[in-house]
Amino acid sequence: PTEEAGFAELTGPTGSTGPQESLLGPGSTAVAHPNIALIKYWGKRDEQLVIPYVDSLSMTLDVFPTHTTVRLDPEAQTDGVILDGRPAEGEPRRRVVVFLDLVRELAGRTERAAVDTRNAVPTGAGLASSASGFAALAVAATAAYGLDLDPTALSRLARRGSASASRSIFGGFALCHAGRGVGEAADLSSYAEPVPLPDFDPALVVALVNAGPKAVSSRAAMRRTVETSPLYQAWATSSKGDLTDMRAALLRGDLEAVGEIAERNALGMHATMLAARPAVRYLSPATVAVLDGVLQLRKDGVAAYATMDAGPNVKVLCHPEAAPRVAETLLAAAPGCSVLTARRGPGARLRTADEQ
Ligand code: ADP
Ligand code: DP6
Ligand code: CO
Repeated sequence: PTEEAGFAELTGPTGSTGPQESLLGPGSTAVAHPNIALIKYWGKRDEQLVIPYVDSLSMTLDVFPTHTTVRLDPEAQTDGVILDGRPAEGEPRRRVVVFLDLVRELAGRTERAAVDTRNAVPTGAGLASSASGFAALAVAATAAYGLDLDPTALSRLARRGSASASRSIFGGFALCHAGRGVGEAADLSSYAEPVPLPDFDPALVVALVNAGPKAVSSRAAMRRTVETSPLYQAWATSSKGDLTDMRAALLRGDLEAVGEIAERNALGMHATMLAARPAVRYLSPATVAVLDGVLQLRKDGVAAYATMDAGPNVKVLCHPEAAPRVAETLLAAAPGCSVLTARRGPGARLRTADEQ
């Protein structure tokens, strides 16, 4: 019952009318959760195949599920896409149709589909809606088209929708390989895999400072960064060292080291964006206020470390028993923000008939 927990009450109704009246079958429904990278992916070396420049490592959350239903519609001439209760248009619709084309090609089928997807997380706010969104779509669409893919193949497929989605196929911690070579070799070698850490179960306090959609999508922002930022290569190179250090810290279960590495990796990524021409700046005054709160916590002896994605919202890693104090401090530091504590969550899965 707590699975739906999120900021729904803050973001308001999405305008949906609930389950659609439909002559189509029940279709296939999948659930997936967003993930937050401790070592970030930023930049593609192949835009068409969605191949990252750098490896990344993330934690899948237990909050903000995306539910996606895909029904095949043999009568339809085009795909129907409902996102958060409204027909998707423009780029969001195009990304789903391109993804369905890929699934149809794999399945050797041609029917169009009706997609109905709903995010619990605010869409396009830097809280990884594209990760839960395309992980859920990968699971639901392959089931609807009768494909039976292993987790690696599902992860590779989800990557084609959004590279961060390759990691949301898995629960807990996941490592996404940037892959090697070009073309098919790159496509085959770029996927996520689980990083088993049964004893590492930190809290991630999400400080929501703005639920609105970002002005520049992650996709466009990373393209501009790669093309124009003189800092990009240096960050990509240092990210390799960050990943080596991160893996060792995770294996030791050393939350302080994990947090320090995650914070420096994220701030470095934002530095590359700030140096892009024109600059991409996602961090707002409220973001900086939350970061001040994190510094204050550390001064007061509380292990708390921040990471930010392509948006102004902040995620703070801490020991679970410190989460209430962290949440309280962040609220005081940035009045008007709202906080929610997440833990490690499950991988993407098909929803069973009795859950419908
Ligand atoms: P975020 O920080 O939320 O991941 P992005 O800029 O990476 O922001 O991606 C937002 C885009 O991801 C949306 O504009 C839309 O194209 C796509 N997206 C988000 N949620 C879904 C979903 N449930 N199903 C399909 N596409 C989605
Ligand atoms: C800052 O996966 O959303 O959240 O592959 O173009 O869809 P596309 O981009 P996306 O980028 C995520 C960037 C990030 C860092 C991360 O999640 O690793
Ligand atoms: Co995204």
